[in-house]
Amino acid sequence: TAAASAGPLRVVVVGSGIAGLYAAALAAECPGIEVTLLAKGALETSNTWFAQGGITAVTAQGAAAGDSVQAHAADTFRAGAGMNDDGAVQLLCSAAAGEVAVLQDWGVAFDLDGGRLALGLEGAHSAARILHAGGDRTGARIARVLVDRVRALADAGRLRIREHAYVQRLLLDGNRVTGVEVLEGPQTTRPTEAAADVVILATGGAGQLFEATTNPASATGDGVALAWEAGAVLADLEFIQFHPTLLDPAATGGVAFMISEAVRGEGALLVDSSGRRFMADYDERSELAPRDVVSRAIFQQLRLLEGRGDEPQVYLDATGIAARRGQDFLARRFPTIDRTVKSLGFDWNTVPLPVVPASHYWMGGIRTDTSGRTSLPGLFAVGETACTGVHGANRLASNSLLEGLVFARRAVNALQAGNGSTPVFAAVPLELQNGTVECTPAQVRALMSESAGVTRDAAGLELAAKQLRQWRAPGPCSVGTEAAEAGPAAAEHRNLLINARLVVAAAAARRDSVGAHFRTDFSQPPAGTDSLHFINA
Ligand code: SIN
Repeated sequence: TAAASAGPLRVVVVGSGIAGLYAAALAAECPGIEVTLLAKGALETSNTWFAQGGITAVTAQGAAAGDSVQAHAADTFRAGAGMNDDGAVQLLCSAAAGEVAVLQDWGVAFDLDGGRLALGLEGAHSAARILHAGGDRTGARIARVLVDRVRALADAGRLRIREHAYVQRLLLDGNRVTGVEVLEGPQTTRPTEAAADVVILATGGAGQLFEATTNPASATGDGVALAWEAGAVLADLEFIQFHPTLLDPAATGGVAFMISEAVRGEGALLVDSSGRRFMADYDERSELAPRDVVSRAIFQQLRLLEGRGDEPQVYLDATGIAARRGQDFLARRFPTIDRTVKSLGFDWNTVPLPVVPASHYWMGGIRTDTSGRTSLPGLFAVGETACTGVHGANRLASNSLLEGLVFARRAVNALQAGNGSTPVFAAVPLELQNGTVECTPAQVRALMSESAGVTRDAAGLELAAKQLRQWRAPGPCSVGTEAAEAGPAAAEHRNLLINARLVVAAAAARRDSVGAHFRTDFSQPPAGTDSLHFINA
């Protein structure tokens, strides 16, 4: 796994979401491993803090009520359009209860109902099996516990934390990753090097590729771009999940706020501007169909409304829940959503919320085996930045926090065992061209939203590819020098542009519709369609 070194195994973990924090905490407790955790902002900055719905696990309580690990696995496959890696799905689902128990041991208090776990329902789940904490603050509650744990480990001298430390390049010796080049501080333009036997990328997704996103500003797909530039194999890049219900920023003065799928799990309905419930026109599971189906249905309904001259707006209507379960139910079950929507002028007890689909999760990423090993020796990837294949073409709701835990632990176990060989993934060489025309991140987002969003077609993707080839990304500065186009913000911009080119190339190459990738010019694929893997030519 790592280059032979006499001393402790030097592990650098990049990223402070659930996967990075968990990997760092677990590795720090292993004898013989020296851990440095790098966060590009404060340790408390990551997408994990925004996770509302919860974390999926078939606990003993769920099993006693008739649920099973196999049912969770079957739902994961169905949501993923069957493109999932079988081994990864089995590992994910069977490890879930154990990982949740570890979180409880470490201090995460999942919500109870009458002394038993309160289990929520979300789209495409055949049973109520979503654990949540603080109502809709699951991610924040888990992240708080993990951040406190790694800070305590750092205080005890067991790991080193470097905040505002932006990794702008992976160091290579041949194809072996030997460390990272870091910009420390938001204004820094002078990188320093940190040597490592193993680098674990846990940098999250790239929601910022699109105008409407549930992700925070930090979700710029840094890990995928770093790995691409270093020569790692990437996979499933065309599969980007759009969450169906972002509170419409056009109705909030630009504030982007996700309304959890758990709200539909409690019975909220999707209606259009004529007040008509429309999901049954698209799927027999209605509001609880998988996310890709619901997002596409909303998108099509908006086009339909526009076409017949009606207001193109869709609403999430939770008023029936309030009527059935009392005016205080929504505030108790979803305190963050309740506070936020009310502060934006929506009393959702009485009025439906205007919503739009928004980029949410990238199923694709750095190709790994089920222990986080990438195609480059010395480089691991875990969490959203990785692609184990566990989610197939579309992730099942509330499987992502779980993924972060399960595959972070497996990566740390592999490091401890020290006997893994670098996996080989067949991949098609791809050349990305950098142009000469300056562009802004906002232009990249507008182009991606127009051409590579919920639906795609050859003509739009071709135009986008052409434009992306013309645009130019700022280059990285090098060690010991200062450059005008340096610093973390410029590097994020560069990464967005690389990721946009990758997504567009993959979406153009997949000439079929499957899961979250919908080509209006191609129908469903034949059974047994394969993943697309690319490597930097
Ligand atoms: C949500 O609460 O709707 C998001 C949960 C997820 O992304 O799985």
